[in-house]
This record gives sequence, structure tokens and C-alpha cells, in this order.
Amino acid sequence: MSASPYPQALVDELAMGRFDQDYIDDALLDRLVEAVAAVRPEVARIADFGGGNGRFLDRLLSRMPRAHGTNYEISAHLRSLNAAPPRKELVATSFLSLDRHSQYDLVLMNWVLHHLVGKDLPATKQLIADAAAVAYDVLKPGGVLVVSENLLQSSFRAGISSAALFMVTRSRLLRPIVSRMRDGKAVAGVGIYYMSETELGSVLARFEPVTTFDRGAHDYGWKLRPIGITCVREKVLVFRKPGG
Ligand SMILES: C[S@@+](CC[C@H](N)C(=O)[O-])C[C@H]1O[C@@H](n2cnc3c(N)ncnc32)[C@H](O)[C@@H]1O
Repeated sequence: MSASPYPQALVDELAMGRFDQDYIDDALLDRLVEAVAAVRPEVARIADFGGGNGRFLDRLLSRMPRAHGTNYEISAHLRSLNAAPPRKELVATSFLSLDRHSQYDLVLMNWVLHHLVGKDLPATKQLIADAAAVAYDVLKPGGVLVVSENLLQSSFRAGISSAALFMVTRSRLLRPIVSRMRDGKAVAGVGIYYMSETELGSVLARFEPVTTFDRGAHDYGWKLRPIGITCVREKVLVFRKPGG
């Protein structure tokens, strides 16, 4: 492992219980497994970057009986919720510190990119770019990347809304207000960075898009309208590393 040069602002461990959820239901998981198999019929090694309670990886491994999986998870609380089925390893270090050699057939980044928050906006964008580079480098040529993200739509230029959301959620002053919003408690005072689908596409420009699943929209009502956000959609996107 090599140390990451970028310090990350972390969600408080006491708030991590909020992420003990199953975000992807069985029907969507079946479609996802089909989409992966169409691109990469043989999956031997899977890395789940920020795999949380590990249940997504466990469910995936039960559908891929020949695969081995590693959950790279920095939260002690979420690690403690992991079951220990055979063929699964739990690693307590940041995936940003991974040695970058091609070793995985499938990399998962489910609802993680928006938590890669640095001390300011440029540092945050750098962490996200770095995560994309790590995913690219650890995948074998022809390997598959699955990214699940909350993607914003905006009546302003989307970059302005992403930056404004980051500032508002990072602000210590606004913490009492943000913590009362949907999903706000864990990230108030820490920060969150939701991209537009266009920005995510440019972050992952080195990959080939395969398919996208839309899980529907979050309803924030009027609350995010002052910063131009009209809608936040939950999407699961599948990409392929060229080559192989
Ligand atoms: C919203 S949760 C999603 C958990 C899981 N991927 C899922 O879909 O259920 C985000 C997770 O990313 C983890 N995380 C954030 N940055 C990380 C990093 N640099 N290395 C490893 N895990 C990280 C957090 O601890 C948290 O468990």
C-alpha cells in the first residue's frame, strides 16, 4: 500500500449507522449481474471501494460462485457489521492508498464518490479524480467499474450547484440547518459533493460507458432550489476499462 497524499474529511463514526442500508434491491442486482456478465463473463476478483456493511458484496458473491471479493472500508462501525463468508476479505485502509497494479475484474464504488471530501473544493475534486484513477489502474484491461451515485440536475450551470451544495454542507455555521435535511445529519459540517451526470462522465472519461440504471429521484422539495438544484437522481452506472 502507498499512502494517499490527500487528507479526507470523514463522517463521524457515530453517524455511520445511517449508511447501514441495502441501497440496491434483488431485481436491480440481477440486472446488474447480467450487465457485468455481458461485458466480463469471467469475474475472479472484485474490489468494493467503501463497501460499508459488506452486504452488497456478499449478495454479489453469492451470484458469482467463483469470485473472491475485498471490501476496502475505513469505518470501524461499518466494518463491524460485515459477515465473514468464505471468499471475502475485509481491509481497513482507504482504497485511495491501494497499490496501483491491474488485479481486479470488477470494481464497485457505490455511493462513495460524493463522500470523498477534502479541505476545500479543489481538494475534493482532486480526491474524486484520484478515486477514478485508482479504479482505472487496479482494473485489468476489459474489467468492469460499477459506480452508484446521486447525480444532480440544476437550473444553474451544474458546476455552480455542485459547488454550492459542497459549501453549504461543509459549513460549520449552517450545520444545524443541514442536519435537519434529508440525509443531512451525517454530512452536516463535513460536506458532500454531488456531481451532474456530465461531470461524472468527464471524471470517468477514460472508461467506456456500458449501461445505466436509474433508481429514481430524491425529493428535497423546495429546499435545494435556492442553489439551483431541481432534482437529485440515484443512478447505477456500468463502465468498462478499454483493452482486454
Ligand atoms: C454511503 S456509504 C456506502 C456504503 C456501501 N458502498 C453501500 O452501498 O452500502 C459510503 C461508504 O464509503 C466509505 N468510505 C469513504 N471514503 C472511503 C475511503 N477513502 N476508503 C474506504 N472507504 C471509504 C465510508 O466509510 C462509507 O462506508
